[in-house]
Amino acid sequence: MHAWLRRKDINRITEHEEGRRLVRTLGWPHLIALGIGAIVGTGIYTLIGVGADKAGPAVLLSFMIAGVVCACAALAYAELSTMMPAAGSAYTYSYAVLGEAIAWVVGWSLILEYSLVVSTVAVGWSGYFVGFLEWLQTNFGWNVTLPAALAAGPHAGGVLNVPAIVITFAVAGLLIAGTRESATLNAVLVVFKLIALGVFIAVALPAFDAANLEPFMPFGFPKSLGADGVERGVMAAAAIIFFAFYGFDAISTAAEETRNPGRDLSIGIVGSMVGCTIIYMLVALAAVGAMSFAVFGKSAEPLALIMRELGHPTAALAIGVVAIIALPTVLLAFFYGQSRIFFVMSRDGLLPRGLSKVNPRTGTPVAITLFTAVLVAALAGVARLDEIAALANAGTLAAFTAVAVCLLVLRHRDPERPRVFRTPLAWVVGPVAILGCLYLFWSLPSRTQLWFLAWNVLGVVVYLVYSRRNSVLAKGGVA
Ligand code: ALA
Repeated sequence: MHAWLRRKDINRITEHEEGRRLVRTLGWPHLIALGIGAIVGTGIYTLIGVGADKAGPAVLLSFMIAGVVCACAALAYAELSTMMPAAGSAYTYSYAVLGEAIAWVVGWSLILEYSLVVSTVAVGWSGYFVGFLEWLQTNFGWNVTLPAALAAGPHAGGVLNVPAIVITFAVAGLLIAGTRESATLNAVLVVFKLIALGVFIAVALPAFDAANLEPFMPFGFPKSLGADGVERGVMAAAAIIFFAFYGFDAISTAAEETRNPGRDLSIGIVGSMVGCTIIYMLVALAAVGAMSFAVFGKSAEPLALIMRELGHPTAALAIGVVAIIALPTVLLAFFYGQSRIFFVMSRDGLLPRGLSKVNPRTGTPVAITLFTAVLVAALAGVARLDEIAALANAGTLAAFTAVAVCLLVLRHRDPERPRVFRTPLAWVVGPVAILGCLYLFWSLPSRTQLWFLAWNVLGVVVYLVYSRRNSVLAKGGVA
């Protein structure tokens, strides 16, 4: 068989040599917490403003479209992750179904997704944190603010975003200390995050005024270039808002560490996805109904701004504080996913093998976690928030497309294989996921599409020069 097409054996996908196997410590409550922890973050807390700026009140439709595409992808993930409960998620499924070359492209896209989400959320967190320090100085006279040069990256008027770098390394430390402990802490923080959104809905929804929804769709439906050089429209907003919905895929990267993968993964993925979609729709409805999108569309902290404008400064402060305490759960989940993707790709020989050693005491891949932290912190120190969020979406859309293709190919190629979770109406759900992801990708800013292309050209070069020759599968091993 040609090298590009070599595939992992689905039946042996959970076999690994001693010292390169992760410990099974997680149950479904951990996974739901990991899912919601990964999903609810900068997307709903910050990018809702960017979305409203691009679509007007019709951002409600953008939420709906992104939610439907994500739900379809989530169903495909649930079927494949329960069939192949091995670390590596979309990358591993593609390796077993579509062959090594496509798996490489998917893995390379996942690296982009996970690292850029971590960098994006670290930058978003830093924004709230710096704002909080300013609030302390204004209200209590404490001299705690950072010099401007160290409070933000070059695009936001600073030189280096130090808080973003510090939070990245703090989360890396938690992961190195052991999965179980960090997953439990994550569960506690998730509760705070949900309470803050609940407070927002409870305060903003009673202020609903239908007049704020007029005109409903001021920038049209498809992506179109405005006079100010910004691409707008319901789909352009959906392509950004998409960021708010994903994260459930981070659960599937924990498959190898799950005690009862068959049951726990489907509950974890579908449960966290459905719960978050309901909450988002309520938050979005409360936001665009409470005031004109023009008021909060350009804000770096739209939910807090809406609270202040409605005359509730305490609620605004509470939302800001919760963002500071709880956004790290998103970092934790994606960081976890990122180190696991690197881990699996290196175990397969596509990245250097030295990176996949597990620490015998904690059961965590220490070297790879530190390596990830350095890369992600470097980006977070200097990168621009909206651009990295859009590029993270591009990587995610590529992975989701591949997973939906895998679902359909396996249904066709291997219909008799037992499926712990069967995607209902797979021949509708799969194509909706694939076409939806492609349409969302097309609706991303043109610059983002070019960056994504450049990233993949680099990936193909790495594959041809290194990975193709070092693949464990190519040498006859069990990868
Ligand atoms: N869904 C995650 C967030 O919104 C990535 O932060």
